[in-house]
Amino acid sequence: MPSYVITGASRGLGWKFLRQISSDLNNTVIGLVRRKSETEEKVKGEFHDRTNIHIVEADITDYAALIQAKAEVAAITGGGLDYLIANAGVVSRFDAYDPIGVLGQQPEAMEEDLTKCFKVNVISNIHLFNLFTPLILKGEMKKVIAISSGQAALNIIPQLGIEVAALYSISKAGLNTAVAKFSAQYAKEGVLYMSICPGMVETGHFADATEEQMDGL
Ligand SMILES: NC(=O)c1ccc[n+]([C@@H]2O[C@H](COP(=O)([O-])OP(=O)(O)OC[C@H]3O[C@@H](n4cnc5c(N)ncnc54)[C@H](OP(=O)(O)O)[C@@H]3O)[C@@H](O)[C@H]2O)c1
Repeated sequence: MPSYVITGASRGLGWKFLRQISSDLNNTVIGLVRRKSETEEKVKGEFHDRTNIHIVEADITDYAALIQAKAEVAAITGGGLDYLIANAGVVSRFDAYDPIGVLGQQPEAMEEDLTKCFKVNVISNIHLFNLFTPLILKGEMKKVIAISSGQAALNIIPQLGIEVAALYSISKAGLNTAVAKFSAQYAKEGVLYMSICPGMVETGHFADATEEQMDGL
């Protein structure tokens, strides 16, 4: 029975991954979320017959919570893990519509937002990978997938002149580099670390955008 851990499974893309992957009852699917009971209610409401879904609680910025989550995952799977999908992430609203030069006019807010993006999207995922790689090494498929963004692709930014989402993109570039470093270390042990971009998906981030902001986007 292939096993999956999906972070950020409470909503958006993570919820959809949980839904799709658990539709095959042979898959054991573990969603990591910040509010367990809330997501369990949602699961009960939509897929009450899917006994292959498990919900584990962890804020990925909380290292101790990740250690606890790892133990819970190991107890569910019997010790190994086939796929880790690092989907949880912060999508900044602060940088969504303005270029970096405009963001810099609010230096403190910019620093705060970049620090938050970095903490969640980069540092927390590094902790996640370090803690969960021993389980992946015991799994059969050995795949770690980071949900990153084409916004961080250094060839695309100048080609298309993408001015917006600078802070988010910087953090995703950091994530991509971390993934490459994990790959460099663990490829020889058969682990595939990979960053992918899901494309642009409407998950409600721009619900309160003005018409002008949407045009820009
Ligand atoms: N949507 C797009 O167009 C798009 C495009 C490219 C890449 N991506 C990437 O795809 C991933 C999912 O995007 P999305 O649009 O589904 O985002 P979303 O709707 O904002 O969902 C983000 C998820 O991450 C979780 N999360 C955030 N901070 C967390 C933390 N500290 N600890 C644990 N979980 C945390 C959220 O949990 P809570 O419910 O507890 O807040 C939520 O489940 C992100 O990494 C994003 O950067 C999205």
